[in-house]
Amino acid sequence: MQKLARSIDTNQLGLHQNLQKVVEKYLNTQTQKPLSAHSEAAFMASKDWLNGWQGELIFDSCCGVGESTSLIAQAHPNAKVIGIDKSAVRIDKHHSYAIDTDNYLLVRADLNDFWRLAVLEKWMLTKHFILYPNPYPKAAQLQNRWYASSAFPNILKLGGLLEVRSNWPLYIQEFAAALKIAKLLAQTQPYTAEKAMTPFERKYWRSGQSSWQLIANL
Ligand SMILES: C[S@@+](CC[C@H](N)C(=O)[O-])C[C@H]1O[C@@H](n2cnc3c(N)ncnc32)[C@H](O)[C@@H]1O
Repeated sequence: MQKLARSIDTNQLGLHQNLQKVVEKYLNTQTQKPLSAHSEAAFMASKDWLNGWQGELIFDSCCGVGESTSLIAQAHPNAKVIGIDKSAVRIDKHHSYAIDTDNYLLVRADLNDFWRLAVLEKWMLTKHFILYPNPYPKAAQLQNRWYASSAFPNILKLGGLLEVRSNWPLYIQEFAAALKIAKLLAQTQPYTAEKAMTPFERKYWRSGQSSWQLIANL
């Protein structure tokens, strides 16, 4: 039987009071954390796969089982698409969602490291999808959310048209507020479509929850 998704359980009612302070801190510092060996290896494998590619490059970050990665690749036949997720269990389930097209690659890596390496390598994205990132909805978890973490400056440097979706409207509002602190504009709106693009999207819609979307030209 299909498990229904629980709605967001949060003790945060509006924008986090420390959002501005935390975003500014990360915009002005560079992380010195050591890179994980498996993420470095995944990055090198992605670089080999790209083989000097100079055309359109799309990331599907937090791709989970990679259902969205294959759909994005199919919709962008002239682009190379890389789906990245830290969960080997999810990546290993991709075969059930695979599409017969050779313009995408799935890798298991920690995005904190993978984005950092891509920036060091001066990769520039044409599009960047972050679909249903973990929301970390407790107020104390603010710095686990991508826009309030040390990874945020790297998301900005990778550029491209950023699309974020979440079932938690406050995540989308805070993401837009963080972009504003970085002097970037974002559009936010409810998101609906005929067909879900990811397992989480499907699960949320089946349990009656709605999706919210952020689009920003970085
Ligand atoms: C809620 S799931 C959404 C998965 C997929 N986008 C979907 O909609 O079905 C969030 C995903 O983000 C991944 N994730 C969380 N933190 C990550 C990190 N630091 N690096 C890479 N992936 C991460 C998790 O492994 C998980 O698969």
